[in-house]
Amino acid sequence: MGRIVLSWRVHPGSWLQSDGHVGFSLNPHRYSSYTGVDLSELAIERAIEAHRRAGRTGKNSFVVHDIFTYVPTRMMDVILFKDSIYYGTNSTILSCLNRLCAILTDKGVFIVHMDNIQRHQRVSNLIYKHFSVLEENNALEETGILMIFR
Ligand SMILES: C[S@@+](CC[C@H](N)C(=O)[O-])C[C@H]1O[C@@H](n2cnc3c(N)ncnc32)[C@H](O)[C@@H]1O
Repeated sequence: MGRIVLSWRVHPGSWLQSDGHVGFSLNPHRYSSYTGVDLSELAIERAIEAHRRAGRTGKNSFVVHDIFTYVPTRMMDVILFKDSIYYGTNSTILSCLNRLCAILTDKGVFIVHMDNIQRHQRVSNLIYKHFSVLEENNALEETGILMIFR
């Protein structure tokens, strides 16, 4: 089992929590702000509603935007692409990640989750070719993969 999964389970206070299945969510006590981005208005409406129901409206914001052209307005510690990065072409993904490198803090990282490593091997290869992969974990689920890199 990789270090990431252990850190979720051994340290339940960490900022990223396993939800007990294959998904994960942010621990509301361990981050200062969060911006969710999706191209779909419906997806954003649902996310706002889910966060409202969970009582997490204070520090979360949501934006309907193309993730491949979205530019955060401040520096970020973590930029997470959860089952979204593979919608881009290699060149779109690469130019997006290269642009976002400038707004990662000193110790900031990208996290990419993909539900099926075989189907999205080209994205994993692209990340390995152009970035420093700090951790890769595929122990959480049968087919998926989580990559941390910068
Ligand atoms: C498989 S769902 C994952 C949803 C969510 N990220 C999660 O993991 O629960 C894929 C999502 O990516 C969004 N998406 C696809 N292409 C996108 C793009 N270029 N910019 C922003 N969102 C995009 C879709 O609207 C959809 O909501």
